[in-house]
Amino acid sequence: MSTARSDAFVFFGATGDLAYRKIFPALQALIRSGDLDIPIIGVARAGWSVAQLRARARASLHEHGDFDAKAFARLAAQLRYVDGDYQDAATYRLLKQALDGAHRPIHYLAVPPSMFGAVVQGLAQSGCNTHARIIVEKPFGRDLASARALNRDLHAVFDESAVFRIDHYLGKEAVQNLLYFRFANAFLDPLWNRHYVDNVQITMAETLGVQGRGAFYEDVGTIRDVVQNHMLQVVSLLAMDAPVAHDLEAIRAEKLRLLRAIRPLSREHLVRGQFRGYRSEKGVAADSQVETFAALRLHIDNWRWSGVPFYIRAGKCLPVDTTEVLVCLKRPPLAVFDATRQSASNYFRFRLSPEVVISAGARVKQHGTAMRGEPVELIARHESPSDELPYERLLRAALRGDAGLFTRDDSVEAAWRVVDPVLGTAADHENPLHLYRKGSWGPLAARQLVAGKRGWHDPVPEAAVPCSDARAGSAP
Ligand code: BG6
Repeated sequence: MSTARSDAFVFFGATGDLAYRKIFPALQALIRSGDLDIPIIGVARAGWSVAQLRARARASLHEHGDFDAKAFARLAAQLRYVDGDYQDAATYRLLKQALDGAHRPIHYLAVPPSMFGAVVQGLAQSGCNTHARIIVEKPFGRDLASARALNRDLHAVFDESAVFRIDHYLGKEAVQNLLYFRFANAFLDPLWNRHYVDNVQITMAETLGVQGRGAFYEDVGTIRDVVQNHMLQVVSLLAMDAPVAHDLEAIRAEKLRLLRAIRPLSREHLVRGQFRGYRSEKGVAADSQVETFAALRLHIDNWRWSGVPFYIRAGKCLPVDTTEVLVCLKRPPLAVFDATRQSASNYFRFRLSPEVVISAGARVKQHGTAMRGEPVELIARHESPSDELPYERLLRAALRGDAGLFTRDDSVEAAWRVVDPVLGTAADHENPLHLYRKGSWGPLAARQLVAGKRGWHDPVPEAAVPCSDARAGSAP
């Protein structure tokens, strides 16, 4: 794998939503840290001029970044623009000119997957692929078959070592911390298995709806949008075995082994929901069957996790903005104290977003003569959050050829294999769709997925949790 730095940054989809929300802020941050002093070439078919693209970048930084006049001036000076249809060979001839002799360009496909094939072909036919790297946005395909086809298209032109598949969750500080925490602490390993873990829950809750992205969402739905990628990446980091070495391939090998051990999802382990009002969104069919919420139960068929359910719940228009993991440990075998109130208060909680928090739940004795206890949390939290944006971290890594934060071809296919049996089409889905109220925790049917009395743990805003002391209160 080459570690030579890329010498031109090309992004397709330059006038699109992703560029506006994420890419321009990341580019400004990279310029500010001195990591991007190369030509930046936006490609789109909007009929724009470079002046219009600069204005768009400025607006993006005001709305989604922290506008820095000095860094923006450099970004504007480095920015070039190629206008053209992705199917048209002329577009790639213009791109070649704009590359102006760059030897190792990196091409970022911030475009829908349906365009990937055309762009890859265009790059190959124009020779813009020579010594180049390619970054591909998610979703990587629509199902296992299309992901395989995309991998074939990519590999016809690029070696796997030059392909960087984005899952921006891997660029999040908290997600990297999960990997670190697991393998930097010896106390965890004896507990991290079916003997001590009762169940694992991951909730990715968003308060917003689809925000004008109705047409995009109609084609995707929650399972393809965040479960196949973000959620399964989190599961693989949580549940994988220790890598045999601290190197990229060793970590990727363990992640892959874990993904392959997840049993393909069956229909009775999935509940799909749609928030009331979704069908009135722009670009959404009046009778849309697309889910904006999914709750599912996964099983990992290996020695470590056999019999331990992994519950995942993700959705739009839920009560809070949070992604949180709860690893619930089994109860003590005998209730020596608190016989009537013994609750499942031993757990590890990882808040992945918006803050980075790791906590352990325990019971301590209350003041007084009675041997009565209460649940507390031992909390580790950074006082000042990391200001490195996930996209900044990912693009910095890709520019220097570091593939550690990206998903490999076999992993992406292994993740599709898990959800493939439950992917319907928009019009035809065997799993019923349950409507839910905006601001609720999704349809009631999702509650029944979690066996027994334990139910889902509903995350609360972290601001409600006191910082300096162990938290006393009800256990999740
Ligand atoms: C994206 C999804 O990948 O992740 C969006 O397409 C979702 O639908 C977003 O809102 C959430 O990311 P984050 O970083 O805000 O948790």
